[in-house]
Amino acid sequence: MITSLAFSILFLILGVAFWWILDTRQRRLLPPGPRGLPIVGSLLNLGSLPHRTFHELSNKYGPIMSLRMGSVPAIVVSSPEAAQLFLKTHDSVFAVRPQMEAVTHMSYGNNGISFTNGTYWRLVRKFVVQELLAPAKVNSFRGMRREEVGLVVEEIKKAAAAGEVVNVSANLGDLIENMTFRFLLGRSKDDRFDLKGIMTEAFTLAGQFNLADFVPSLKPLDIQGLTRRYKETSKKLDAMLELIIDEHEQNLNNGNNRDIVDEMISLSRNNSSVNHQELAKLIDKASIKSIMVDIITASIDTSFTSIEWILTELMRHPSAMKKCQEELTSVVGLDRMVEETDLPKLEYLYMVVKEGLRLHPIVPLLGPHESKEDIVIKGYHIPKKSRIIVNAWAIGRDSKVWGDKALEFIPERFAESKIDLRGRDFELLPFGSGRRGCPGMQLGLLSVELVLAHLLHCFDWELPAGKSAKDLDMTEQFGLTIPRIEQLLLVPKIRT
Ligand code: HEM
Repeated sequence: MITSLAFSILFLILGVAFWWILDTRQRRLLPPGPRGLPIVGSLLNLGSLPHRTFHELSNKYGPIMSLRMGSVPAIVVSSPEAAQLFLKTHDSVFAVRPQMEAVTHMSYGNNGISFTNGTYWRLVRKFVVQELLAPAKVNSFRGMRREEVGLVVEEIKKAAAAGEVVNVSANLGDLIENMTFRFLLGRSKDDRFDLKGIMTEAFTLAGQFNLADFVPSLKPLDIQGLTRRYKETSKKLDAMLELIIDEHEQNLNNGNNRDIVDEMISLSRNNSSVNHQELAKLIDKASIKSIMVDIITASIDTSFTSIEWILTELMRHPSAMKKCQEELTSVVGLDRMVEETDLPKLEYLYMVVKEGLRLHPIVPLLGPHESKEDIVIKGYHIPKKSRIIVNAWAIGRDSKVWGDKALEFIPERFAESKIDLRGRDFELLPFGSGRRGCPGMQLGLLSVELVLAHLLHCFDWELPAGKSAKDLDMTEQFGLTIPRIEQLLLVPKIRT
């Protein structure tokens, strides 16, 4: 008995020593970083807000840091120069998405755009950029957006007349969802099913950290119960998407105002633009469903959460709010509603948007990237299949770039700075950059600016009685995006 115990202890000691030596040899060539534990690596130390933990660690280990997440080697990138190396100089090596279980179940695996790779992804992305999200397509839905924003403004006006508190977060969420569903499916509401509810369920699940993605040996055990829940949700989602596609197939719109599902079905029937013949041969019902899920997932929470954070910052900075309103009064006047054509003239509003997204990049670690081959960067070995994490949140707060007031909300800093947010400048990356950068940026920015402009043009905003700006909780909640933990409740007053 004693002998076998002694042997077990000896084996354990030898095992740990062997792991230590191997780990030390492997780590010699990698960028610096914390060592982590056997099997789980640094997974258990990431905390509930990993972008903040990575930021603290990178202050210690540097802008290119390595750590292990389970069995997956990870590289965390935290400065503009480093981001440029990964997203521009060597973009072709890192424009790969890792496989994740949530995607396999809920977004039809390798059929959409956000999590596919290789030639199929290139074809889908080209189609999405050139057709589905092309400026002409986005502009053709201008009337729909005017109508949807107008409805919300009318609702808020009623609340203002009654002196009520408005749940701005809920209103914004509904508005962006309605605009997205009308663009995608041609309708916002359908009493037969609850697509919004199911999508929220899917977002919440996909935003949860799945241990099995990092320790694959745990996959069959499903210890978090996530696989079961992915399957249940995907079944409900699939039934709805089937119905939507069937209905579109039966009444295909060949006219001017075709929604995104019409466009995809047309392509799959091979009678769309000659530019996408190759994709037309590959696209099927599963691809259409997958692209639908990807567009819904990528567009609703991002746009709505951006507006929510920016409006919250404006509540904390009344002088910036006043400047936006003065600009709106001078450019638009108070006799008509804001139009999309006014937006390019609202320069201060654009600075506010940039500053808001600098401090609150809604996808703080961008999408996950993976290295498709071994590569040496800045003398460090980056192994094939490393997870690349670009900490856009940390980059936006880097005092070397943004000065000693980096953590303050000062839109005026963009009056002198040429830094823009469209992916050309690596100091500000709310939409990412390079091959995997956001293809919906134009639509996303348009929605954010349009909705903000209306809210500030039509209303003055106050906090509910007894609350002051310093009561606004700025705590974030980590998931697919980082919304504020609290809903934004405000009292509107009609501007006259
Ligand atoms: C304010 C709004 C938005 C923000 C802040 C945003 C941000 C981002 C970010 C950070 C990424 C990942 C980039 C990377 O991994 O390097 C991304 C990817 C993506 N976004 Fe957006 N996005 C927004 C709106 C939209 C909209 C409206 C759509 C579509 C209608 C969209 C579609 C996508 C897609 C499909 C991808 C994946 C692209 C790929 O992997 O090839 N986004 N977005």
